[in-house]
Amino acid sequence: HPNQLDQEKKLAAAAALRWVQDGMVLGLGTGSTAAHFISLLGEAVRNGQLRVQATATSQASEAQARELGIPLLQPRRGLRFDLTIDGADELDPQLRLIKGGGGALLREKVLANASDYLLIIADSTKLVPQLGQFPLPLEVVPFALPWVLDAVAELGGAPVLRPDRRNPQEPARSDQGNLLVDCHFNQIPDPAQVAAQLKTIPGLVEHGLFLGLARAALVVQSEQVMAVRP
Ligand code: A5P
Repeated sequence: HPNQLDQEKKLAAAAALRWVQDGMVLGLGTGSTAAHFISLLGEAVRNGQLRVQATATSQASEAQARELGIPLLQPRRGLRFDLTIDGADELDPQLRLIKGGGGALLREKVLANASDYLLIIADSTKLVPQLGQFPLPLEVVPFALPWVLDAVAELGGAPVLRPDRRNPQEPARSDQGNLLVDCHFNQIPDPAQVAAQLKTIPGLVEHGLFLGLARAALVVQSEQVMAVRP
């Protein structure tokens, strides 16, 4: 039920807020779960409960944070994040992730990599025994698209160019203006191998497999928030 799922997302987001300490530099994720977190964080900032600075993983999250009065930091050398809070499309018990359902995988991975701690927040549908049911998102430079599709098909990923949600005749674009391709692997028994193979394809800017990046996840199960660590 969509309403119940939204409640779960809110619950996970509220639990994540308790991980934020005064003075922290935060990475802000993208998607409906991260949006709940940003909204709760904004309340805490407005009430004077927390002073934080943050960088967002998408234009959408940045706009939301700005509107709520969360002080924003632009990318610069040496900038590190004490904590990044983000959603995921799938996570397994080892905390390997599929991300990018919202198209923000590139900036999400950049911030995850610049973070001392990546905390994932997720509703009850996200934790899976094995990754791959959710189509793996790729960000692709437009010129390279045909060859990326060929290469991904050869890997067994059944690639589909993502249509724009509002204008399905047009392809979706990332914040960088690149294309998004969703790869239907159905199962990914060896995520490290698939990640390594994808990394060799020219014009494929980034893929949505996040391996060895998440330090903990707050996952809702039977209306309880459960902490998962790799
Ligand atoms: C955005 O690109 C994604 O990585 C999101 O983190 C992911 O799609 C989860 O989104 P929801 O929180 O909306 O499920």
